[in-house]
Amino acid sequence: MARAKAKGASKKGSSRRPETGQDAIALLKADHRQVADWFAEFEKANSKRKLALATDICNALTVHTTIEEEIFYPAFLEATEDKDLHHEAEIEHDAAKKLIAEIEASGPDDDYYDSKVKVLSEMIKHHVKEEEQPGGMFAEARKSDMDLDSLGEEMAARKAELESQISDVPMGARKGKNGVLGRMASAMTR
Ligand SMILES: [Fe+2]
Ligand SMILES: [Fe+2]
Repeated sequence: MARAKAKGASKKGSSRRPETGQDAIALLKADHRQVADWFAEFEKANSKRKLALATDICNALTVHTTIEEEIFYPAFLEATEDKDLHHEAEIEHDAAKKLIAEIEASGPDDDYYDSKVKVLSEMIKHHVKEEEQPGGMFAEARKSDMDLDSLGEEMAARKAELESQISDVPMGARKGKNGVLGRMASAMTR
């Protein structure tokens, strides 16, 4: 299908936009909202649903941190040379990953399960605030010459690839176009 050339397209000469219509920051923010919704749902869920939600949360965060670390963060560092923001974000990812591994290795019958998920939600809330607040990474990225359209396209493709590798997906939390499978399906029809 022919697409009209995007207005003000790219700062680096490409006229292509991601077919998802999301630039890099819109894509990452949508992930943030999805995970926040799942954390909120977790607090009121029964044990079976908790396991499905925690699995979704851990999978989504693993994919999200991977596309940030492989694609967005290096582009940010190159464009802005802001080592402080970049390094702090990576350290926060490392801390979250340790807790994600602990949650993945346990389950709702673990006396500490809910506490682990709660602490992860607080860590992620803090990290998301740092990325999205004025003067944070996303605001600085918008001010830079980063090609957010082409980075969005690259991240959407990598995200779909990573999601297709996730096999331990419980059916309980797989609903709606914003679920992992829904997003995977829409990414695959690109
Ligand atoms: Fe993020
Ligand atoms: Fe991040």
